[in-house]
Amino acid sequence: MIEVQHVTKRYGPVTAVDDISFRVERGEILGFLGPNGAGKTTTMRIITGYMPPTEGRAIVAGFDVLEQPIEAKRRTGYLPETPPLYPDMRVSEYLTFVAKVKGVARSQVKARVDGVMERTRIADVARRQCGQLSKGYRQRVGLAQALLHDPEVLILDEPTAGLDPKQIIETRQLIKALAGDHTIVLSTHILPEVSQTCQRVVIINKGRVVAVDTPENLTARVRGSEAMYLQVDGPGPDVSAALTQVPGVSGVTLNDGAGGPVSVEVTSEDGRDVRRELASAVVSRGWGLLELRPMRLSLEEIFLHLTTEDTTAAEPGVAPPEPPQPGQEEETTHA
Ligand SMILES: Nc1ncnc2c1ncn2[C@@H]1O[C@H](COP(=O)(O)OP(=O)(O)O)[C@@H](O)[C@H]1O
Ligand SMILES: [Mg+2]
Repeated sequence: MIEVQHVTKRYGPVTAVDDISFRVERGEILGFLGPNGAGKTTTMRIITGYMPPTEGRAIVAGFDVLEQPIEAKRRTGYLPETPPLYPDMRVSEYLTFVAKVKGVARSQVKARVDGVMERTRIADVARRQCGQLSKGYRQRVGLAQALLHDPEVLILDEPTAGLDPKQIIETRQLIKALAGDHTIVLSTHILPEVSQTCQRVVIINKGRVVAVDTPENLTARVRGSEAMYLQVDGPGPDVSAALTQVPGVSGVTLNDGAGGPVSVEVTSEDGRDVRRELASAVVSRGWGLLELRPMRLSLEEIFLHLTTEDTTAAEPGVAPPEPPQPGQEEETTHA
């Protein structure tokens, strides 16, 4: 339904998107995951025809978005990062205006506006001014305007960004309800978002596709990399040897504290909680356990992990993994 073929976008010297290719099948919800600045918004603007790529092309429902923009746009609904609302217009006026601009037949405008307001649950604010709406309602009005011309394809740029937890759940439910008769691409920089909503995930980092996978596989891969951080008052090599012997431990990295306490990073086999065993291994030898905590992997570290491990489990068409970037890990690990 959507094909992105070798798309590159340069802003002067900045390469925002670097030879990205992926496909989205009809009826699929694809998560487009990447940290800030990864190139998500740029890619979405290209798919929606709001901006031409420097190289490559995007095809929506069989129409090249540059060569047949009217056909492509007719089939595409776009929720930009910041929904383009007119602050002084009432919600229903705004949607009526957008419906006309989008070429909805006059006789159908009212029915369509009422329909999308019901679908996105904004009927209760129909008479409020757009500028007075909460962030959650603004996002929903943005989604409503994207749905007005009944497009098959929905491109949603960080639809849950800035929402509170309750609104996030509501928005997810809304998106899931739209699935099936729509093909959806949803961008996010939050990992749990994709596992909740999407069937497949394209991960981009620094403008390149680093993995294409299901959320299940992704979560398993990330869980496998979960690590504990320990600070131990004891002799470095002995501490390292003792922790290595703990059942379930798959890796131990020692930062010797030059005479002081040593810091250690311990990885365990998939999903296994080894905290008790680690603590008793330290304490039973008479060393001081100064700190023991799980290390939260930042999205950057997850990308690093995903790009350094074997990616044979990923689907065909995946870009070759980038080499690890030395020096990145140290800065973010203990933040
Ligand atoms: N109009 C622009 N001019 C110059 N650089 C831009 C412009 N828009 C985005 N960029 C740069 O392109 C990169 C990707 O940005 P963007 O697509 O917005 O990423 P994301 O949506 O994943 O946060 C960033 O480095 C950003 O600074
Ligand atoms: Mg963005």
